[in-house]
Amino acid sequence: MEQALLAWFDAHGADLPWRRTRDPYAILVSEVMLQQTQVSRVAPRYEAWLERWPDVLALAAASPADVIREWQGLGYNRRGLNLHRAARLVAEHGWPDELTELPGVGSYTAAAVRAFAFGEAVLPRDTNVLRVEERTGHRFDPSCGQALMDLGRTVCLARVPRCDECPLAARCPSRGRRYEPLRKQSPFEGSFHQRRAAMLRLVAETPRPLDELDREAVEALERDGLVATANGTVRLPA
Ligand code: ADE
Repeated sequence: MEQALLAWFDAHGADLPWRRTRDPYAILVSEVMLQQTQVSRVAPRYEAWLERWPDVLALAAASPADVIREWQGLGYNRRGLNLHRAARLVAEHGWPDELTELPGVGSYTAAAVRAFAFGEAVLPRDTNVLRVEERTGHRFDPSCGQALMDLGRTVCLARVPRCDECPLAARCPSRGRRYEPLRKQSPFEGSFHQRRAAMLRLVAETPRPLDELDREAVEALERDGLVATANGTVRLPA
């Protein structure tokens, strides 16, 4: 299995900017961005981020307001703030042995940094990797991390897998199966999310009076530390 997969990856693997580095900070930035945002949207934003803040010390010295602005458009803005907090912790104490102690770093992201930056023999299992393992019934060895991510993103798709292009099809018990659509986000979740995003965009431009804003959405942003209100004015945290 591994051999067939790695041969496919040699021929079809994507050339992605975070695959040209072993810097743990750069890998962490890429993995946090990739947690909920597509590869094609992340690539240019990753490069801009590293140009602006090339290392942990640079990011640690930035203000939360600048971080929130740079994150705009990537979605799930708390991820940006957590990345900033993580950089400040690493700047002060160095990299912890247990990476999940850093805010926003769960077991997947910790495994990705250990594998792709520190070269440890662990296989980071994100949803793509888990799906390929579940369908093939095979537990892949740690050499296969990046290859499994590409296979899951481009061939072993969630609903309609492209088995005719798959290097593992001959040995895959799920070959040819189709899958039901996933549950869609409810209209309520979608619209509240949009209200929050709209308020954050307004406040990122310039501080604004709370009276002119969607109070419920602003309160939700405030609970996440994305905005601060003082004397009736809402602004990005200093
Ligand atoms: N998704 C999460 N991490 C990734 C990576 N390193 N390469 C491609 N897709 C990913």
